[in-house]
Amino acid sequence: MINNEIKTKLESILEKAQESIKAAKDMDIINEIRVKVLGKKGELTAVLKGMKDVAPEDRPAVGQLVNDTRAKIETALDTVKTRLEKAQMEVKLAAEKIDVTLPARKYNIGHSHPNTIALEEVERIFIGMGYEVVEGPEIEYDLYNFEKLNIPANHPAKDEQDTFYINSDIVLRTQTSPAQAREMEKGKLPIRMISPGRVFRSDEVDATHSPSFHQIEGLVVDEHITFADLKGTLQEFARELFGSDIKTKFRPHHFPFTEPSAEMDVSCFKCGGKGCRFCKGEGWIEILGCGMVHPHVFEMCGIDPEKYTGFAFGVGLERIALLKYEIDDMRLLYENDIRFLNQF
Ligand code: DAH
Repeated sequence: MINNEIKTKLESILEKAQESIKAAKDMDIINEIRVKVLGKKGELTAVLKGMKDVAPEDRPAVGQLVNDTRAKIETALDTVKTRLEKAQMEVKLAAEKIDVTLPARKYNIGHSHPNTIALEEVERIFIGMGYEVVEGPEIEYDLYNFEKLNIPANHPAKDEQDTFYINSDIVLRTQTSPAQAREMEKGKLPIRMISPGRVFRSDEVDATHSPSFHQIEGLVVDEHITFADLKGTLQEFARELFGSDIKTKFRPHHFPFTEPSAEMDVSCFKCGGKGCRFCKGEGWIEILGCGMVHPHVFEMCGIDPEKYTGFAFGVGLERIALLKYEIDDMRLLYENDIRFLNQF
């Protein structure tokens, strides 16, 4: 009696399970059925718990029946599981299909900017002469940008560079020269450094001006440094950069932080000095500012001017790039048009 009851129960469990397995559309439902029927609290387990009421001599046969039912349900679950997984894989493969006959995506390689090429060239020259390359901050204290370079609050030289202030003490640096003061203050002598970087002035954009451009600062401090060292170094620099047959000329000038100060011209490398459109008929092209470090600057930066001397210089990076690559409008340097950049 009980055996028959169990038998009917098992048949009904099997039948219902097979039906719902057949109807299952995804793996979640399959897993749910597995738990509901075969799980610890599942229907089949409940039947097993009823075994205590079965006569001992019938238990093996009933047990066999339960096991058969379990095996059938497991087989049905596994069959559907395999089918669903296969279908899932097919969907995935279809979505990831690669058409190897399509043309490849174009791979655009960029190009070094003329500024970068020129800067690397300048760095190569000075590193070859034993200089170190150091960087200074683009947002700078008035103290370093002006005061320590001998440009006090009311100095007329401050006028043209009195530009982008963050507040009354902090300015977007107008020159790379503050890197000199910062390097000297470190107190590690001798110094042989160049410091390239971006500078800012409130200039209108035109063929030769931009509110943001780049300079390369240079500084040498040691015992017995003379103007001859300055001349020799900068002449060598110009020859390396523009060609060995270039001539240089130093004109007296004024910079507050150097004394004496000069500007260096190079003979026009286009016409050799005869005068042409490139050098505006002059035969010479102005290239940089320079001079012997002012004793007062040394004092403000904690260096004994009785013991040490030095020279400094400042070059416009764009100016070098424009000259070297014969570019006639500075704005081209900032457009980043790859057709332009590819030419250098
Ligand atoms: N800082 C100067 C400028 O922006 C350029 C310069 C001139 C730098 C003379 C120097 C120097 O180091 O000695 O106009």
